[in-house]
Amino acid sequence: MVRMGVTASAPAKVILFGEHFVVYGEPAIVLAIDKRAYAKAELREDKLLHVHSVNLNLSGYFDGEAFRVEQGDEKRAKFKLEPIKVAVEKVLEFRGEKVGLDIEVNSTVPVAAGLGSSAAVASAVAAAVGGLLNVKMSKEDVFRISYEAEKVVHGTPSGIDPAISTFGGALLFQMDTGFKPLETKDVPLIVGDTGVERSTGVQVAKVRSVKERYPRVVEGMMRTAREVVLRAIDALKERDLETVGDLMNINHALLCGLGVSDESLEWLINAARKAGALGAKLTGAGGGGCMIALAENERLEQVLKAVQRVGGRAFIAKKTDEGVRIEQT
Ligand code: MEV
Repeated sequence: MVRMGVTASAPAKVILFGEHFVVYGEPAIVLAIDKRAYAKAELREDKLLHVHSVNLNLSGYFDGEAFRVEQGDEKRAKFKLEPIKVAVEKVLEFRGEKVGLDIEVNSTVPVAAGLGSSAAVASAVAAAVGGLLNVKMSKEDVFRISYEAEKVVHGTPSGIDPAISTFGGALLFQMDTGFKPLETKDVPLIVGDTGVERSTGVQVAKVRSVKERYPRVVEGMMRTAREVVLRAIDALKERDLETVGDLMNINHALLCGLGVSDESLEWLINAARKAGALGAKLTGAGGGGCMIALAENERLEQVLKAVQRVGGRAFIAKKTDEGVRIEQT
C-alpha cells in the first residue's frame, strides 16, 4: 500500500572532536543536537521529481538528468537540490520501480554552517520516501543512502554527518571501523553561528593541500588529534568538563594550524572563552560556519550572551538520542 504523504525528520550535529582528521582515518566524537531537518514525500501522477526547499526558497523539477528551476537562481537551486535527487533515486533503486514524487524540505538547521544540514536533509528525505513507498529499509540503509547524497556535496566525506543524522545520540566514529555509541553525561554547549556560509569541500581541499605540502608536520598533528579523542572519551564518560574544555581548546589549535579557522570564528571563540567557557572550538569544516563552547550549566547564559554580543547567532544545544524518524503518515 502506498500512503498519501509521509514526513520524516533527522537531527543536526556538532562535532566535539576530530573534524578534518576523521577524513584521514582518525577517530572523531559527534553529538546529535535538538535541531532537525524535515522532509515530506508525496506521490505525483507523472514521473517527475519536484523538490521544494522551504527554508532556502528554492524549487525545481528533475526529469532524469535534466533540471528545470521553478524558484531561485538556477545554478544554486541545482547545486542545493541535487543531493536530494540522489537520495530519492537510491530509495527508488531499492524499490525497483520509478515513480514521480513531490519532496518538500524544511529545516531549522543553519545551512552550510558545519551542523550537518545537508546530511540531515538527505536522511530525512530517504526515510520519508522509503516510508511513503513502503520500502523496507534499515537505518543502516538510510545511512548509506545519505552518504551517497553527501558525496555530491563534497567529494570525500568521511560519513560522520550521515551517521549521526541517521542514528542520533553520541557516536565515536572512525572510517575503517565505523561508529559506536558513546556514553556521555550531559554536555552543556553553546553553538554560535558566524553567519559566514562556506563550502565543506573547499575546506577539506584546503587541509589536503596543507597535508601534501607538510606531510610529516601534519602526521604529528594527526597523532595529537587521535590522543585528544582518546582522552576525551573518558572525560565525557566521567563528566570531567574541565578536561573536555581543555581538549576542545587543543583541538581548535590543531584546526587553526590546518588553516580552517577564520576571523569570524576567532571572534566568537574568544568572546566565549572570556565569558567563562571551559573550552571553545570551531565545529565542522570551519572557514566560517559554527563554533561551539562548553560551559558549566550556571554559566551557559553568560557565554550565550557574550557570543551574541560579538555578532554570533547563538543558541544552547541539547543532545538528542532521536536519529532519523517518521513524523506522521
Ligand atoms: C564536516 O562536518 C566534517 C569534516 O570532517 C568532513 C567530513 O568528515 O566529511 C570536515
